[in-house]
Amino acid sequence: MSFSIAIDGPAGAGKSTIAKTLARKLGYIYVDTGAMYRAMALYIIRENIKPEESDKISIASKNANITIEYHKGEQIVILNGENVNPFIRSEEVGNMASVSSANKEVRLKLVELQRQLAAKADVIMDGRDIGTYVLPEADIKIYLTANSSVRAKRRYEELTQKGIQCNIEEIEQDIIERDKRDSNREFAPLKQARDAVLVDSSNMTADEVIDTIINLVKSE
Ligand code: C5P
Repeated sequence: MSFSIAIDGPAGAGKSTIAKTLARKLGYIYVDTGAMYRAMALYIIRENIKPEESDKISIASKNANITIEYHKGEQIVILNGENVNPFIRSEEVGNMASVSSANKEVRLKLVELQRQLAAKADVIMDGRDIGTYVLPEADIKIYLTANSSVRAKRRYEELTQKGIQCNIEEIEQDIIERDKRDSNREFAPLKQARDAVLVDSSNMTADEVIDTIINLVKSE
């Protein structure tokens, strides 16, 4: 049986940074489920479908074949044969993903892929519904959060370091809206699993969060 660690939480809580480092330290595979929803969103944008056209999104999702490969430990998302990693981090794709991820057909398709990956290897999987829906039997479940102003500040620093101009208030507003959409959708919403450990990183460094989770793994 493979071992699985589920890390869920709202946008910008640092899930991917933490999960990536943990995967390297523990020798597990890191599965970034947000990247899959982003690849699906990219397909929807390329098909000229609007976020509110939910029937068209359901149909389009059937034609988007999404698979995952790993190169030197990095997850590569393949959309209909194309490596789309260079295209999925834009604001446009993120905004579409936040809406199209509420679509049931989109979720069912990607959840199947996520479960297949977890069945094959020891994984650290991050997302919104991993502990509650994708892997309800995960060995360790973490709900990683931080208050919205801390999350906005971290995102602001990340973007300005890359030379991208941005406004911290707008970032925080955007984070709050994404959280609302994720938490209020009907199917597999964002919420803390009953058996998940809550880690509030508002006043913690990344290293402190990593040590906390490694201690949980050791005590298993
Ligand atoms: O985590 P990331 O920002 O890359 O995810 C993009 C979008 O995909 C999120 O805004 C969220 O709405 C959605 N998502 C989801 N369920 C997951 C992972 C991501 O609904 N397991």
